[in-house]
Amino acid sequence: MDESSFTPPVIFTERLVLRPFRMSDAEDVFAYASDDEVSRYMTWETHRSIEDSLGYLRFTLDAYQGGNHYDYAIELAETGHVIGAGGAFRGIEHDGRFAQIGYVLHRDYWGRGLMPEAMGAFLRFLFEDKDVHRVEAYHFEPNRKSGRVMQKIGMAYEGTCQDKYFIKGAYRTVCLYAAINPNHSEVSP
Ligand SMILES: CC(C)(COP(=O)(O)OP(=O)(O)OC[C@H]1O[C@@H](n2cnc3c(N)ncnc32)[C@H](O)[C@@H]1OP(=O)(O)O)[C@@H](O)C(=O)NCCC(=O)NCCS
Repeated sequence: MDESSFTPPVIFTERLVLRPFRMSDAEDVFAYASDDEVSRYMTWETHRSIEDSLGYLRFTLDAYQGGNHYDYAIELAETGHVIGAGGAFRGIEHDGRFAQIGYVLHRDYWGRGLMPEAMGAFLRFLFEDKDVHRVEAYHFEPNRKSGRVMQKIGMAYEGTCQDKYFIKGAYRTVCLYAAINPNHSEVSP
């Protein structure tokens, strides 16, 4: 693969297009990332100006060049607007066997099953196209909505990790969910 031209492959779902970010997405990113309610349980700070969104996009486009960065823009097919982001921003790890997923959606679009649709498709991509073995996701303990997304896409609750991360000035207890590739039959010794 020519790494200089890498971008994650586009994934289509019924209502969404998961595609690489572009610098021209800055206003759409700012629209969701500037909402304190949206960023509350995310690891990043609320965007205070369009410069924050441009900085995120610069970082992301640069990270694509490394050839292993799956942070997708989630575009609503009907409007062409980016309404969120999701994917595996650390890429596929451990020799192609593992990925951790994360996601965020504009508040106006909550409650329509859009994130389960997006992340369900991304999980299938990881298992079927990339042959990843294990996929994990964490949510801050109070963020039960996110746990519902994980359940809906077939991830299983594995436990609660006390004070796992120090984020935004406090220790955060997180819930861990995971899914194993259903196409893999080999059992650990
Ligand atoms: C978590 C999130 C991605 C869910 O996406 P979504 O597309 O709304 O997911 P769903 O439509 O399946 O709804 C999930 C749950 O959210 C709750 N919910 C739905 N609409 C809601 C609304 N308008 N307000 C508050 N909660 C709502 C429900 O409990 C729902 O579960 P249910 O279907 O069993 O009732 C979205 O709320 C979000 O972006 N939150 C902020 C960022 C975030 O927390 N990301 C995850 C970090 S781990």
